[in-house]
Amino acid sequence: MIGLPNKRELVQWLQTTDHRALSELFAAALEVKHRYFGHKVHLRGLIEFSNICRKNCYYCGLRRDNLSLRRYQMTADEIVECAQRAHMAGLGSIVLQAGERCDEAFVQFVEDAVRRLKRETNLGITLCLGEQTAETYRRWFDAGAHRYLLRIETSSPELYATIHPPDHSYSTRRACVFALREIGYQVGTGVMIGLPGQTAENLADDILFFDEMDVDMIGMGPYLRHAGTPLAASCTDYSVERQLRLGLVMIALTRLRLPDVNIAATMALLTLHPRGREMGLKAGANIIMPNITPTDYGQYYDLYEGRPYREEGFGELLEDLSRKVREVGEEVVFGEYGDSPHYFARMRCKGATTVRSVAPTSRRHAGVP
Ligand code: 5AD
Ligand code: SF4
Repeated sequence: MIGLPNKRELVQWLQTTDHRALSELFAAALEVKHRYFGHKVHLRGLIEFSNICRKNCYYCGLRRDNLSLRRYQMTADEIVECAQRAHMAGLGSIVLQAGERCDEAFVQFVEDAVRRLKRETNLGITLCLGEQTAETYRRWFDAGAHRYLLRIETSSPELYATIHPPDHSYSTRRACVFALREIGYQVGTGVMIGLPGQTAENLADDILFFDEMDVDMIGMGPYLRHAGTPLAASCTDYSVERQLRLGLVMIALTRLRLPDVNIAATMALLTLHPRGREMGLKAGANIIMPNITPTDYGQYYDLYEGRPYREEGFGELLEDLSRKVREVGEEVVFGEYGDSPHYFARMRCKGATTVRSVAPTSRRHAGVP
């Protein structure tokens, strides 16, 4: 029986390469997922509405010093149109993601877009827009966003300092996660897995950090190289097999340690293996974020090499995904928000009488079984 792993056990699992043992770990995590979520898998349509970024993270292709990247910003109409198509296809939630900007024009643009999206689609809205002031987080929350994903990237301040320039701050990022919780968002965080210089102990600490921070959602994935970035140059012993294994082990261990949080099988897994996301589900994940950014733009959201962007055809994309999920014994659920049960447990503990509305969306999806 594999129970709640402590630090020593987390480290041991992260060092294990034995296939038989790992199959047992994944089966135990899947059982816990089934206990809390049944066989349900919820989707979030990912809209990457701008790749303009003021930051310069050493690992990311969107960093401001990457001058060879064509930058774009979708209009509000384009975002709403994309969301409406997602809504019509039966998705319950979207994620609005972009490079980091804090100027007032951007803050206002997001606020207006969220308000409009809420009014016109009532989709669940997750934001993934980096570090902002508490006031900005509050404005976007009041406009109707109810989840926010801000990856800590690594819980080790020392490792954080090696993958970011000196003007990026671990403590600011951590404070942002607290601010989001205070405001009332369902809060997600996550890390990159298999970073140069990262140890099994660092990764074990990451899982303990998720637990300590009492987060509701996890979005994490293997680190992938991007040739135009400084970190890729220092990454000499890269192995696809290792990145994939660690990515899956992190999902399984996080599921065992934090049973009722939403965990995404992320795009980085798909980049490493055509069935990577389904493997993530089998290791205990319960969320998939299909990329629904219009193709004209998606190709320029160049976080790392080989990142798949959406193929043409919304209906086919979802049909294909539903089939792949069914093939591994799980079931995509349409027309629901799929909020994190942990959020409600947390709010009940706090004695909250009202929580951010989570009514399922009313319109059923059309055309996808
Ligand atoms: N490999 C994997 N993930 C990356 N991200 C950025 N660059 C990379 C990379 N090279 C992730 C970061 C960030 C999110 C938007 O994308 O974790 O938070
Ligand atoms: Fe910008 Fe985010 Fe990439 Fe850093 S990880 S450069 S903040 S898009």
